[in-house]
Amino acid sequence: MYTVRNVTEDLYWVGGNDHRLALFENVHPIPRGVSYNSYLLLDEKTALFDTVDWSVCREYLANAAGLLNGRPLDYLVINHMEPDHGASIEEILLRHPETKVISTEKAFMMMRQFGFDVDGREIEVKEGDSMSFGRHTIVFVEAPMVHWPEAMVSFDATDKVLFSADGFGSFGALDGKLFNDEVNFDRDWIDDARRYYTNIVGKYGPFVQALLKKASTLEIKYICPLHGPVWRSDFGYIIDKYDRWSRYVPEERGVLIVYASMYGNTEFAAQALASELCRRGVTNVHVYDVSSTHVSQLISESFRLSHVVLASVTYNLNIYPPMYHFLMEMKHLNVQNRTFAVIENGSWAPQAGGLISKFLDEEMRDIYLLEDPVTITSALNELSSPEISALASSIAESVLV
Ligand code: FEO
Repeated sequence: MYTVRNVTEDLYWVGGNDHRLALFENVHPIPRGVSYNSYLLLDEKTALFDTVDWSVCREYLANAAGLLNGRPLDYLVINHMEPDHGASIEEILLRHPETKVISTEKAFMMMRQFGFDVDGREIEVKEGDSMSFGRHTIVFVEAPMVHWPEAMVSFDATDKVLFSADGFGSFGALDGKLFNDEVNFDRDWIDDARRYYTNIVGKYGPFVQALLKKASTLEIKYICPLHGPVWRSDFGYIIDKYDRWSRYVPEERGVLIVYASMYGNTEFAAQALASELCRRGVTNVHVYDVSSTHVSQLISESFRLSHVVLASVTYNLNIYPPMYHFLMEMKHLNVQNRTFAVIENGSWAPQAGGLISKFLDEEMRDIYLLEDPVTITSALNELSSPEISALASSIAESVLV
């Protein structure tokens, strides 16, 4: 039994789905699982595009063997070497001594680093090189830092299929469905696609822009990423998302409120602000507890929304540790071009507000701080409540332009 699907008449999805993995890269929760996509082209020559993670190697090998049905595997094209795709290279090479490997110079260096013996089997390609496999001509396009430096994408100029590596990928297992028009992407997938992009590739926006520019010159009928659905329609939808994310332009005008609260008082202030915002007509408001929300979700929301409010208790005369972690992740993933506001709380020496403001000013780029931090001493009172209301007015004025 195989789990293959046709992409076109002679191109097949031969990957696998994993619902057992809890943390992608041992960092990011994937409650909907993940797919590792690989594609097999059966032309006069046979060619496999990328391999899969070890976790699904057995079904992947069965899928490929079933379709090859005794034919040799002439080529293995490696677009990306991260082990969620490259881990099964050695297994393919051992089973197919006839196979030549097509990839970039840096990818071959990485194959050796990972201990794969590719000596005498390499076909090194550079930007714009092409190869014919029979009816199909494949063009190779370098895509450095989308998401590693060795990455490339491959374009089937015959059937207009872009093998886009990590680009246009998503968390989430396919579970039999393959194409974007077989799922309700905007309802069921976009949050995972955004969380995948922003946390995995989000740091490298300018490189994604460079790839989008190259892709815009191609007539594309299919986008085959290494994770998630294959795109065969509605390209404008996903390209627009990628364009915004990679330029760090918010998708929506709205407010992300992230609070750090030990006993509920800072949480109460965050909720009071949310209520005041909604009262002023700003209802695209999303409140998260930094202690119980995975930081990958917070990062994803910070890419989606235009305004971010950080409300933090002071802890050891510093920023509450999970809030500091969120700040560091925003810095590392190049979150920019956002409007921020800060609320601090402290019973005897409130410090968090000044420290967060300093971090936003000195460590991040293109951040606009709307107001001086609002200070709460222990709990909202007759002094701080009006300041929360005033902050809500400033934020509302800024959001509703
Ligand atoms: Fe899905 Fe960068 O690997």
